[in-house]
Amino acid sequence: MSASAVAGYRFDDADLPASPVTQEELDHLRTTLLFSEADERALRRAWEILRDQVEQILDVWYGFVGSHPHLVAYFSTPEGEPIAGYLAAVRPRFGKWIEDTCTRAYDETWLAYQEEIGLRHTPARKNRTDGVRSVSHIPLRYLIAFIHPITATIRPFLAAQGHSQEEIEAMHQAWFKAVTLQVALWTRPYGPATW
Ligand code: HEM
Repeated sequence: MSASAVAGYRFDDADLPASPVTQEELDHLRTTLLFSEADERALRRAWEILRDQVEQILDVWYGFVGSHPHLVAYFSTPEGEPIAGYLAAVRPRFGKWIEDTCTRAYDETWLAYQEEIGLRHTPARKNRTDGVRSVSHIPLRYLIAFIHPITATIRPFLAAQGHSQEEIEAMHQAWFKAVTLQVALWTRPYGPATW
């Protein structure tokens, strides 16, 4: 899947502004998370397992959001009517994000897109990519709380190909750290002064 194949997915877009986050700040976050090169290798192995299961993973995540009206609300009009085209438009970007989380180097290009994804959850950019009339932002508390379901639900997919418990655990921990690292970066646009 190339970046251009996914509408609105702007990883690698040279027009995207550089992230205000420095490499040193990123390094400190990685150190705080105990995120090591072994975790990067575990993520690469995880992608080999997850790559054929992306649609099923997205079904689980969409099922989770869909079964909670307070979460569907963020894919809905301010009056509370779900916007099917919005849910459908974001889905392939979510899929590409699974791949990029596992496979990409966490460099300047990656940092720039982290800032963009964060912004897309805030009033600054939500709804713009898909031109929808939805609510203004995702509350920060839900971004943080969502780390758990996004992590817990990936484990059965990592375990689907008969790897050892030790190997599954290593990939799962690496996934948990990678998601937490990204959400930590996405909190920046919510409150730059205190980030
Ligand atoms: C967009 C991941 C939390 C609702 C996205 C995208 C990704 C993502 C990868 C697509 C970014 C792009 O456009 O390329 C995550 C992760 C979360 C999280 C990993 C937490 C661990 C939430 C929560 C909600 C939510 C709690 C509320 C239901 C949305 C919406 C969009 C979006 C509505 C589309 C934003 C737009 O208009 O561009 N998210 N998300 N997200 N997410 Fe999240």
